Amino acid sequence: MKNNRGLVVLGGQWGDEGKGRIVDALAKDFKAVVRFQGGNNAGHSLHIGEQSVVLHLIPCGIMRPDKICVIGNGVVLDPEVLFAEMALLESHGIKCSPNNLKIAKNAHIIFPFHKLLDAQREEGAHNFIGTTKRGIGPCYEDKVARFGIMACDLLSKEILSKKLSSVFHERRLSIDMESLLMKALAYGDRLRPYLCDAGEVIEDILKKGESVLFEGAQGTLLDVDHGTYPYVTSSNCVAAQASVGSGVGMKWLDEVWLVSKAYCTRVGEGPFFTEVSAQEQDHFRKVGFEFGATTGRPRRCGWLDLNALKYAVRINGATGLVLTKVDILSDLSDLKVGIGYRSKNHKNLGFMDALELHMQGHTIDVEYLDLPPMDKMPESVNKFSDLPRSAQKICELIEKHAEVAVKLISFGPKRGQELLLSAC
Ligand code: IMP
Ligand code: MG
Repeated sequence: MKNNRGLVVLGGQWGDEGKGRIVDALAKDFKAVVRFQGGNNAGHSLHIGEQSVVLHLIPCGIMRPDKICVIGNGVVLDPEVLFAEMALLESHGIKCSPNNLKIAKNAHIIFPFHKLLDAQREEGAHNFIGTTKRGIGPCYEDKVARFGIMACDLLSKEILSKKLSSVFHERRLSIDMESLLMKALAYGDRLRPYLCDAGEVIEDILKKGESVLFEGAQGTLLDVDHGTYPYVTSSNCVAAQASVGSGVGMKWLDEVWLVSKAYCTRVGEGPFFTEVSAQEQDHFRKVGFEFGATTGRPRRCGWLDLNALKYAVRINGATGLVLTKVDILSDLSDLKVGIGYRSKNHKNLGFMDALELHMQGHTIDVEYLDLPPMDKMPESVNKFSDLPRSAQKICELIEKHAEVAVKLISFGPKRGQELLLSAC
C-alpha cells in the first residue's frame, strides 16, 4: 500500500463474504482500521492460530496489537455489546484501551427499546425482512428523525434526560425511564475515555504518512439505497459511506476492494436470483459452514452471480476484487456461474431492471456457464497457476463479466490461507 492512503474493503454481495478475515490479513500493512456503518448486526469470524473469535462491533484490526481501531460516526453502537466484546477479547489476551480503540462521539447509541421494536416489527405480519433483531433499523430511524441519542449524550445527565424524554414522547414508549437513564449514564462513564472526533484522529494518521483501512459491514446488495430494497439493512454499506461514516474527506480514499465469495449467500428475506434448491444448498452449508455468525440462521446459498457483481463493482467504483472461499467449490459435481439475466420479454437485463421486474412478479431466468468440477486445493498455493483450473477460470470470468481485476484470493478460513495477486 502506498503511504498516507485509504483502502476501503467491503462486501460485494449480501454480507458474509469473509470481509473480516480479509481485513485481518491486510491490516498488517495499515496503521488503523475503521468501521463506518452498521452495528453488531455484523459478524466477522476470525481464525488465527488456535484462536477463533467472532467480532460484531469492534474492527477486525484489534487482533493486531499495534493497530488503532476506530468506530466511526456512521456506526450504531450498543454499549452492552461493546463491553461484552471487549471482555471476550480480553479473555483471548487482546486488550482494548483508549490507546488502540477510538469511538466517534457522534456515533448513535442502540438502546434496549430499539431491540424490542426491531423484534416486535419482525414478529408482526407486515414488513418481514428477517433482520438480526439487534435494533439497528430503529436506531437509524431515530437518527434520521433527529431524536437519536449520540455517544457523547451519555456523558451528561441533563442532556440525556432531555433526549430520552424526547424519544419516549416520539416513540410513545411506556417503559421505566429512570432505570434506563442510570444504566446509560453508567455506560457513558465507561465510554468517556474512548470518545473522540474520529475523523480528526483518522486524518491525523493519514497526514503522518500512514495508511488506513476502512472495514465495511454487510454488503452492497444490503445497502439501503442500492440494495434489494426493502430487503436491506438500514445503512449505506457502499464505498462512499466510508467517507460519510468516518468523517474523513474523500480525497483520502483511493482504493476500493470488493469482497465476493466464489458463490453467493444471503441471510433473511429478499430476491436472490441464483439461489439453488434446498438439496444443493446442503453442500455449501456443510462444507462452507454457511450459518449466520450473528444469529446462527442457515444462510440461503446459490451460484456466483456475475451480473450482480458487475453492478456492485460499478456502484462502489471498485478498483479490485477479493475472491473468498474458493476451496468450498471443490467436491461439487456440478459447478456453475451466473453470467446474465432474462425474463419473458427481456434479454440482457441489468441488476436494477431485473429487480424491478422481480418485484412486479415476473420470473427472472439466469443464464449460467457450466464449468468442469473443481479439483481439490493443493497443499500450498503460491501463485495463480497453483490454483485448480476451474478457480482460475472463475477469476477470468470475473474480470471479463464484472470488469474488475482479482487482487486477492482466499482458500481457507485461517490467517495465511490467501494469495495476493497484486499489491494494494
Ligand atoms: P438488520 O441489519 O438487522 O436490520 O437486518 C436487515 C437485513 O440485513 C436482514 O436480511 C439481515 O439478515 C441482513 N444482515 C444484516 N447484517 C448482516 C451481516 O452482517 N451479514 C449478512 N446479512 C446481514
Ligand atoms: Mg458476517
